Amino acid sequence: MNSIRNKIVSDIDTEGYSITHNFFNDSALEALMARSDTGLAQGRFREAGIGTGSLYQIQEKIRGDHIWWLSPDEVATTPDIFLQLDQLKDHLNRKLYLGLFDFESHLARYKPGSGYERHYDRPKGSARRKLTVTLYLNKDWSAECGGYLRLYLPPNCETFVDVEPRLGTLVVFLSELFPHEVLPSNRDRLSLTGWFLERA
Ligand code: OGA
Ligand code: MN
Repeated sequence: MNSIRNKIVSDIDTEGYSITHNFFNDSALEALMARSDTGLAQGRFREAGIGTGSLYQIQEKIRGDHIWWLSPDEVATTPDIFLQLDQLKDHLNRKLYLGLFDFESHLARYKPGSGYERHYDRPKGSARRKLTVTLYLNKDWSAECGGYLRLYLPPNCETFVDVEPRLGTLVVFLSELFPHEVLPSNRDRLSLTGWFLERA
C-alpha cells in the first residue's frame, strides 16, 4: 500500500499524472460496486450536465453519462475507499505541499455509445479543483470494449495516453493541466470520479 502511495506521489511530482492498478483491495471495490447497484435501483443517478450556474445544460452528445453525487452520509456507507483516498490526500500534502483540503465525488455510468468530449475539469466556478481522481469499476473489461479515458499530455497536448477502465485502475492527475475525454464504449461503464479541492 505504502509503495503504491509513494509511486502516486512521485508520478504526480514528475509527470503530473499517475496510473496505478492495485491501490484498493477487492472487498473495498466490491462494496462500492454494490453501493452503485443499490443507488441505481433507487434512481439516484441523474443525467450529467456541462457548464455551471446559468450556463448549465444537458448535452448528451458532449457528455452522455448519468451521475450520482455522493453526500457525506453516502460516502460513510462504503468507508474503505474514501478513507484510503483521505490518507492519499494527507500523503500528497505532506510530500508535495499540495494544500488539498476537501473531497467531492460522484459515481458515473456511461451507457453503450456514450462518452464525454474533451474537456478540462476546472471550468469557471470550479477553481478549487486541484487533483482529479478516477477509479474504474468494470469487471472483465477488454480492449474491444473501448471506453478509454484519453488523457492529453502537456505541455502541448498533442500526445496522449489511453487508459482502459478496468476494475481497480486508479488515475490521478492535476486538474488544471490535463484535458481529457471519455471515448464511447460498447458496454456499460462505471467509474467513481472525485476531486481533491483546495481551501476555499
Ligand atoms: C469527468 C471525467 C473520466 C472517466 O467526470 O469529468 O472526465 O474516465 N471522467 O470517467
Ligand atoms: Mn473530466
